[in-house]
Amino acid sequence: MPRKMHLGAVMMFGPTHTGIGAWRTPDYPLDHDYAEPEVWQELVRIFERGKYDMAFFADLLGAAEEPADDTMRYSVQWPVHDPVSLLPFLAAVTSRIGLVATFSTTYEHPYLNARRFATLTHLTRGRAGWNVVTSGYFSEAENFGVELPAHADRYERGDEFVDVCKALWSSWEPDAIVADRASGAWVDPAKVRPIDHKGKHFASRGPLNVKPSRYGPPVIASAGQSPRGLDSCGRNADVVFGIQWNPAAMRPHRDRLRERAVAHGRSPDDVKILWGVKVFVGRTEEEARQRQRTLLDAVPEPAARAMFSLSTGVDVRGTGWEEPLGNLLATNTGSHGLLDALTTNMGPGVTLREAATMSSVGLAPHVVGTPEQVADRLEEIFEQSGGDGFVFMTDYSPIEAASIVDLVVPELQRRGRARLDYSGETFREHLREF
Ligand SMILES: Cc1cc2nc3c(=O)[nH]c(=O)nc-3n(C[C@H](O)[C@H](O)[C@H](O)COP(=O)(O)O)c2cc1C
Repeated sequence: MPRKMHLGAVMMFGPTHTGIGAWRTPDYPLDHDYAEPEVWQELVRIFERGKYDMAFFADLLGAAEEPADDTMRYSVQWPVHDPVSLLPFLAAVTSRIGLVATFSTTYEHPYLNARRFATLTHLTRGRAGWNVVTSGYFSEAENFGVELPAHADRYERGDEFVDVCKALWSSWEPDAIVADRASGAWVDPAKVRPIDHKGKHFASRGPLNVKPSRYGPPVIASAGQSPRGLDSCGRNADVVFGIQWNPAAMRPHRDRLRERAVAHGRSPDDVKILWGVKVFVGRTEEEARQRQRTLLDAVPEPAARAMFSLSTGVDVRGTGWEEPLGNLLATNTGSHGLLDALTTNMGPGVTLREAATMSSVGLAPHVVGTPEQVADRLEEIFEQSGGDGFVFMTDYSPIEAASIVDLVVPELQRRGRARLDYSGETFREHLREF
């Protein structure tokens, strides 16, 4: 039996996620207001038809960084509405798929978050997931009137935040509710205990004022690329969303994650890693390439520059549009991760225009072709990387979502690589199914 892939889709509750300008193309339902629930409900029903493990909502608490005007003008991941509020609307029209919303550990007290996701776990019948992020943008810190804490401090605080949430979720024994009509006792107080947490960043007495869920605690998702980020993922997460540009880079990323899980006393299989990919599929290769071209052509140049700066940390406002990326590498002393990866993947002669446009259309490896070609490539990445599956980079196009679910998923199912149906009821059961 071939190993099966876990599948998911990632998007943002706004006009754009990583398909900058995608909303301009005819595939997007501009006649419907994305701020209302129906388009998202349609999307998650499509994903559930494809038996995906999860629909994953990324989030930010402000505008992305410089240049702010272009970020807003071209909707570079802005605006983004609160995905937590959307989850119950999605749960109401689905019954199996996991529903993940992002919430940051940097600007709030963990008690509120523990309460929010415990409530969502009941409401979704075990399908809620919390994507733990530490929020790295200055604009987000400014929205809270504070200085952006240093990278290491954000992760230290994030780990403690997760610990407090987990302690609060276990502050009730499963059989604490007695609901005894005769005595009038609702709960046995001996089975509901304070957590008395007094840490470096937080204090919380507890117990949580939400009863424990029969589905267990919320599923924890996370993404971190740095060694420190991966350590937190290995420590805290049930599922990790990873982006690397080729299997040669994916393999060590996955190995390090599993090694960190073990270092924190967990089994390496307790944490799944799903790779972000941007799939363009058509009934013919030409149709698939046309889909990709349509999205590449929809990216305005200033928006591609903004997205590129945002994702590489390199300011390219003054750089020639046709300048080879190799020149940028030579002159820039900042973070090279994505620049290096793009140059390696696209060749040393790749220009800023090509790299910036490509990374503005699904900031992940592109997989383009017929259903068979896409399935071949996904299988290759899956085997070579040792990962557990894929997250399809998605914006709010039901047409694009359906193209993957109706063309690629059946091909993966035929090959025994994707589930034919859900065997479990909850998100955690889906993740543990294989
Ligand atoms: C695939 C992926 C998805 C992410 N999604 C979000 C997100 O939705 N919201 C957010 O604030 N940060 C998000 N991040 C940023 C991470 O949470 C983290 O802050 C960032 O990667 C910097 O940490 P690092 O240095 O460990 O990589 C994402 C990162 C990756 C790699």
